[in-house]
Amino acid sequence: MNVMTAPVASAVTLGTKGLTLSLSKGDAYFNYYWLRDNDPTSFNPETRERSFDIFHLSEAPVARSATVEGDALLIDWANEDHTTRMPLEWLEAYAGGNRRPDPADLARRPWYGDHYPEVARFTHAEVTSDGEKRRQWLEALIVEGVAVVTEMPDTDAALTELANQMGQVRPTFFGTYFDVKTHINPTNTAYTASALELHTDTPAEEHAPGIQLLHMRANTVEGGRNLFGDGMAAANDFREIDPKGFRLLAETDVPFYCEHDDYDMRSWQRIIELDQYGEVSGLTISQHMLDLVDLPQTLLDDWYPAFCRFGKLLQDDKYVMRFTLKAGECIVFDNHRIVHGRAAYTASSGDRYIRGCYTDRAEMRSTYRALVAEGRFKR
Ligand SMILES: [Fe+2]
Repeated sequence: MNVMTAPVASAVTLGTKGLTLSLSKGDAYFNYYWLRDNDPTSFNPETRERSFDIFHLSEAPVARSATVEGDALLIDWANEDHTTRMPLEWLEAYAGGNRRPDPADLARRPWYGDHYPEVARFTHAEVTSDGEKRRQWLEALIVEGVAVVTEMPDTDAALTELANQMGQVRPTFFGTYFDVKTHINPTNTAYTASALELHTDTPAEEHAPGIQLLHMRANTVEGGRNLFGDGMAAANDFREIDPKGFRLLAETDVPFYCEHDDYDMRSWQRIIELDQYGEVSGLTISQHMLDLVDLPQTLLDDWYPAFCRFGKLLQDDKYVMRFTLKAGECIVFDNHRIVHGRAAYTASSGDRYIRGCYTDRAEMRSTYRALVAEGRFKR
């Protein structure tokens, strides 16, 4: 007997909340709500959004009967004049609670202090005019969290144009763009010529921006070398060296602040951020914006030493790239993963001007997916 025409009753078993279906890898259970909600006809092919409204069902969806016909499962619903036809291939893909494949879910590759010669590099023209180069650029940002764009035109528009290759420019409470040069009345350590210790930006915001772009417009000063480190690489090592300290930094929310005459921004963040799989996805760290940590003092007996052990590890030469970003270069990096800083410089020795902005991490991944994959609806 041909398998595809086997008696239907042996392939599907109806339950009260769902059905069990025999698939090539064994039996798989599917909930009735899920089956009804994801019926291919529940979606508008034009808008590509779900047009079916499950809230309008008067009763819980229950199958009156279900059969396998060819390469599809047919469900006749008990309380509705509707039949669902769902491809078996599609059910195979989600059997056992599998996650929907995400082409942007690329494995992160840790890097160390000797990485600078290997940092992915693209010209501004390549990223803005060549789709494949743009894809490679976004892939570098997902996998390594950093890339350098060279041959930037010496204009304000060049930075915006670059940012728009992955998404919209994302303002912060400082505004849409920022100019890093020495200021007469600085409101931020960045606006002085002092050293800037390794940090992630705007930790006091509830959602710190995901991607940072720093366009070096002029750099003729003595000193001021750029420091960049992979916080994920350091945090992964810390997890091995000091599992208790790691857990404290990954599980304890601590306050950050940013305050001046007319703002007082505050938020609670974890120093080490874990993703949905429990893997290190990034950091939120800034020694100059850590607020008064108002946690129980006995908890601080353990938290502070762990914070200092990790902070020292992060500054180790093993993790820190030191280089001078040249005029015409733009470094683009994941603000939740890559820590950055700057050595002190002599303000009177020349000009140093960086224009910067941010974009969103989710939007960057969205652009990457759209470049590499067909999605659920594109054909
Ligand atoms: Fe910064």
